[in-house]
Amino acid sequence: MAGSRRIPARNAETESPKRKPHVVHFSSQTSEWPTPQWLFDELNEEFNFTLDPCSTDENAKCSHHFTRQDNGLLKNWRREIVFMNPLYGREIGAWMGKAFDAAQNGATVVCLVPSRTDTQWWHTHAMRGEVRFLRGRLKFGNSSNSAPFPSALVIFRAGPGRPAGPFSSFARRDHIRTA
Ligand SMILES: C[S@@+](CC[C@H](N)C(=O)[O-])C[C@H]1O[C@@H](n2cnc3c(N)ncnc32)[C@H](O)[C@@H]1O
Repeated sequence: MAGSRRIPARNAETESPKRKPHVVHFSSQTSEWPTPQWLFDELNEEFNFTLDPCSTDENAKCSHHFTRQDNGLLKNWRREIVFMNPLYGREIGAWMGKAFDAAQNGATVVCLVPSRTDTQWWHTHAMRGEVRFLRGRLKFGNSSNSAPFPSALVIFRAGPGRPAGPFSSFARRDHIRTA
């Protein structure tokens, strides 16, 4: 889509119904939430990434990458060192599940995700990784606006049976769903 589009400034999952909604303009490029280059570069120094499984040919962060046409979810990530900035909609749970499973099978996966600590995917998968919460908010793509959500890095190190971080999950018993 060309031009800019208006998106809600806050995450609907955590929005208080009483809060007055406000909107922030993001370009169509930003609505893809491309990783800020400085963040990728710093992480790349530490991890030396070999695969970007969620990309277009234009925004891929690694020469070895998968696009929507390839469907990175269905590919074998083998023992790659993966930088994953997934789709932020309902699909995110499937991507986090894939990242976790790939790490169990020998990949190292660094995930850049919205810090949505109240969601099912966070409790099921993110809490089983090493979490680095980002201070401040990222400016995605070319945007001069900060994102309307905080971000975190979730790192799944290669190997089976990695212990969970020092977190635990708490929910009303009748609210616990299996996933
Ligand atoms: C949040 S963007 C990340 C872009 C880039 N990798 C980066 O870090 O800047 C997610 C990308 O995944 C792509 N994508 C969507 N479905 C996909 C799929 N099934 N397999 C691989 N990539 C997909 C989108 O087109 C989008 O460019």
